[in-house]
Formats: sequence, C-alpha cells, structure tokens
Amino acid sequence: MTVLTQLPDTAMPLPADIRGFTLAPSAASPRLLQLTISRDVVEAFLAAVAEWPVQALEYKSMLRFRVAKVLDDLCDNTLQPVLVNTLVDRATGGLQVVPEGLDRVEQADDMVKLATAVAHLMGRSNFDAMSGQFYARFVVRNVDDSDSYLRQPHRVMELHNDGTFVEQDTDYVLMMKIDEQHMEGGNSLLLHLDDWEDLARFFADPLAHRPMRWSAPPSKNVVRDVFHPVFDVDREGRPIMAYIDQFVQPRDFEEGNWLCDLSASLEGSPAILSVPNPVGSFLLINNHFWLHGRDRFTPHPELRRELMRQRGYFTHARTLRAPARA
Ligand SMILES: [Fe+2]
Repeated sequence: MTVLTQLPDTAMPLPADIRGFTLAPSAASPRLLQLTISRDVVEAFLAAVAEWPVQALEYKSMLRFRVAKVLDDLCDNTLQPVLVNTLVDRATGGLQVVPEGLDRVEQADDMVKLATAVAHLMGRSNFDAMSGQFYARFVVRNVDDSDSYLRQPHRVMELHNDGTFVEQDTDYVLMMKIDEQHMEGGNSLLLHLDDWEDLARFFADPLAHRPMRWSAPPSKNVVRDVFHPVFDVDREGRPIMAYIDQFVQPRDFEEGNWLCDLSASLEGSPAILSVPNPVGSFLLINNHFWLHGRDRFTPHPELRRELMRQRGYFTHARTLRAPARA
C-alpha cells in the first residue's frame, strides 16, 4: 500500500524500450493511446497458438493466460508492463489496440484469441451471462427486437459504465469490431471523467453517494438487483463512476430527476470523443473513469456489425483497484 501511495499510477516498472508494438497518442485524444501490434508479432502469435482453437480457451481458463504469455514473450516481455500501467494511469487509462494484418471477418477466431491474450496480460475476463462464456460476440442489424439498446442501431447508446448491475468487479472493458457491412456512423463514444466539465458539481451532490437500485432486463440473464451509488472514489480519493441510464431504478422523484440531469449533462458534454474503431481493432478502457457509448448509424437494409466484448477485473499484484462497491 505504501508503494502504491508513492507511485500512484505506476503498477509495474516500465521497460526502457518496447519491442513488437508501438504506442502513441490516438488521433482522437492524448488520453486515448493507440497501441499497434506489428504484423510480425501478430503472425508469430497466431502461428504459436494455432494448436488451441477458441473452444480450448473457453474450456480451459488457464490457456487464456498461456496465450497472453505467448504474446508478451514475442514482445520481449515489454507489452505486459505497458498494458498494466496504462490501464491504471488516471491520465490515460484507455487504449485503442490495432493488430496489424488482422482486419477481415474470416479472421474472427484469431481476433478473439489476440484480444484474449491482451486482456489476460493485465486482468481476467469475467463470465459473461449473456453468452455463457468469458467473452460475448453479438451482431447488430438494421432491425432489432431486443429489450435493451445494445443492438439497436438507429439511436445513440448513451454513455455508461459496464457491470453496474452485477456483483463482479468490472475494472476494464474491451470492445472489438469483428465485422462491419454497410455501416455509416456508429462510432464509439468515450468520455474521460476528468474531461467532463460538470464532474465536480455532480460529485458534490449528496445524491451522488446514495445507494441506488440497479436491475437488468431479461436478456442479460441476471436475476438479482444490486445496490450502489453512482459515484465512488478510488484509492487516491478521485471520483469514479458506476452508472447506466437504462438499468438504474430511482426510488423517487428526487432521484429520478437528479439522474435525468446527470444524463443530460453527460450526453451534452463537449469533451465526448467520437472514435472510429476499424475491423480487427479494439478499445480497452478503465471502466471506472471512462464512460462509453455508441453514436447512431444510418439505416441500411443490409447493415451488419459484429462485436466482441470482454469485461473483467485487474489481476496484477500491484495494479491499483477501486475499492469494492458496497
Ligand atoms: Fe457497455
């Protein structure tokens, strides 16, 4: 703990040099870093893990960590410290990972393997109740009959945190694009809490810290409600959030209207980033201080988008974690 206090945002010693990948500020914002994995490393990784189909990673949890090691070894063990540190660094905490040469839907299984390797260098992906696996692949089409906005294309999916209605810790969110056809619009929307101009005002309100009830619709396969406030603090006392407009159940007039004001402020923030995420690339963000959403798309009868997500908790011994929610 003392070490963490002295080195608040450095969980692992950083390598002097990095190998097999590059790291640079993204075009969208200096807070969002772009990590490009070289074609040579991607190809060598896929060859080295070819013996394990995705099903092997589903059945044997330990193999998820082995493919992570394979990837890090190919980067001379410089990838893991960069990932661990970036995810907990309050100044950034977010990456767009671009694996070179991995950009066709036919490579979907390879995409799942590579994303799994990256996630398991700094965390462990939670069981996803929607898919029954440690990851979920899902398709967005022109028409939709689901019971949440996850798959509905023609409207904005408002900014939110993941994991608000489950009891597991959700420290990170990984969102990968597997396929995209006839798509116009639909960028990922991201907001770093420290860029949100109304953070201090909402955080100061007593309602920010009052436990509220969160419950999910049937498709999420989560039966029990959970209770927690919208805001909490990390170990350094900085605000973090666990919020989603669709699943919070305000108990009265006061809570409901406060939440509507909060939502309007978030959605209207000029600090929202609109980030295109190409096929094969993924966003990997700290779920406590980055909110995410999705912009609307232009309708098209053959519109198709396939996504893969993983959500999980940080595992590295010295990784800063937010306190468990009450
Ligand atoms: Fe989400």
